[in-house]
Amino acid sequence: IKKDAIAPSILSANFAKLGEDVDAVLAAGADVVHFDVMDNHYVPNLTIGPMVCKALKDHGVKAPIDVHLMVSPVDRIIDDFASAGADYITFHPEATGHVDRSLQLVRSHGCKSGLVFNPSTSLDILKYVMDKVDIILLMSVNPGFGGQAFIPATLDKLREARKLIDESGYDISLEIDGGVGVKNIKEIKEAGADMFVAGSAIFGSDDYKKTIDLMRKELAA
Ligand code: DX5
Ligand code: ZN
Repeated sequence: IKKDAIAPSILSANFAKLGEDVDAVLAAGADVVHFDVMDNHYVPNLTIGPMVCKALKDHGVKAPIDVHLMVSPVDRIIDDFASAGADYITFHPEATGHVDRSLQLVRSHGCKSGLVFNPSTSLDILKYVMDKVDIILLMSVNPGFGGQAFIPATLDKLREARKLIDESGYDISLEIDGGVGVKNIKEIKEAGADMFVAGSAIFGSDDYKKTIDLMRKELAA
């Protein structure tokens, strides 16, 4: 998985012309398509499922699709998303009774596997499954909606996760999701993140390329 990847969250895209909007954001330099799946059960919002993932692949999207599952239970929908062409599949440990099994299920399909930690969820369980995760995703907002403010305590948590990854010796990406923008992306990187989800900051801007270029400039600084 590419380092310093910028992953626009299509939660803030125009769903009436999703294919065009995804093409536009990739042409503007995005690396990964972040695909938020909400079930009105695990989180209080309802979005899109495997059919839309497959439609984007069929439309010709070549960039990795990063499926962020905010659904409970997770196992059956993992199979469906793998068939639909998902490249990365991440889920919340609270949403499955068997975290280890669900991680193995993701990898059994050849997808990159990841665990997502809510702002108040401890990283403790990682020590038991470090060899089974390709991505650790820290939520810097409470999941369910775009456009929320970054929770500052996440910076310390990123440092904690970065230390765990470095000490493990595994090649694990550290992804951050929620309230990321041009103004804070540099300090988020300095805290240890190397994959950056941004929804409203990119899709809410007039010029995707300009916004992504500004983010890259911050990451390089
Ligand atoms: C929230 C989603 C995020 C969301 C981020 O539950 O997981 O991916 O789209 O949106 P912004 O970047 O606007 O905070
Ligand atoms: Zn997300």
